[in-house]
Amino acid sequence: MRRTALVTGASHRVGRAIALELARTGFDVAVHYRSSREGAAEVVEGCRALGAQAFAVQGDLEHPDQTLGLAAQVAERFERLTLLVNNASIFIPRSFQGTSLDELRRNMAVHVEAPFLLSQALLPHLQAAAQADPELESSLVCHLCDIAAERPFKGYTAYSASKAALVMLVKSMAIELAPLVRTVGVAPGHVAWPPDYDDATKARMLRRIPQGRVGTPVEAARLVRFLCLEGTYINGDVVRIDGGLSRRY
Ligand SMILES: NC(=O)c1ccc[n+]([C@@H]2O[C@H](COP(=O)([O-])OP(=O)(O)OC[C@H]3O[C@@H](n4cnc5c(N)ncnc54)[C@H](OP(=O)(O)O)[C@@H]3O)[C@@H](O)[C@H]2O)c1
Repeated sequence: MRRTALVTGASHRVGRAIALELARTGFDVAVHYRSSREGAAEVVEGCRALGAQAFAVQGDLEHPDQTLGLAAQVAERFERLTLLVNNASIFIPRSFQGTSLDELRRNMAVHVEAPFLLSQALLPHLQAAAQADPELESSLVCHLCDIAAERPFKGYTAYSASKAALVMLVKSMAIELAPLVRTVGVAPGHVAWPPDYDDATKARMLRRIPQGRVGTPVEAARLVRFLCLEGTYINGDVVRIDGGLSRRY
């Protein structure tokens, strides 16, 4: 049986690396995007070049109807879904006082509502994949969290608060959906610099990372692959991938 995955926000950066890593490992992949159509098409081609069946699906996860539409399209193509990766994200700096209710809601929609709705809508397909794959025993929902869910980034209240809610979704789903479906979180530190960081900001951040370097999208992707295929007794945990950054005071 071919294993299958949906990766949201998979046109660039971490999502792209996850989609390609899964294709390399033998998964067929649904490559979700919002606005980066060309990037998604390149990732689809890259997955196909690795022997996978892959297709692109569009949807703005701020809108529940589009999120459910995305789930329906994936369900139509993949009767069974081995892995759901909730990776799509918005990361916009705003002071606490400068954060509008609309911005808070947008963060909650992309980081909490969409992962919740996709997981709910695709649950029968995740369960079906687990039942058809005795070697694996369970399917996986992997939410991309952030070490900022534990210790907030100053100037990113809406982002940090919504990622903290996502961590609780990991734990709640883990105790309700097992044994057929496990749920985990992956919490990166810095694995791909935000495009708006200047050299001085990067240097300041690098000095705080015990491993002395930024991580890579491929390292995050390998962790997701590991959690699905090797870490088959891991459920309800959020695994940090941050070079030791969050251990520092
Ligand atoms: N990069 C890091 O070092 C880092 C650190 C900590 C945590 N993380 C987490 O790891 C994940 C991947 O990080 P990243 O930096 O690769 O993410 P990113 O580049 O900021 O975003 C990934 C994709 O999310 C999609 N997206 C944004 N808003 C959307 C919406 N309303 N509806 C649907 N899709 C939307 C975008 O797709 P389009 O381009 O198609 O619009 C974007 O390409 C995220 O969950 C992030 O919070 C990353």
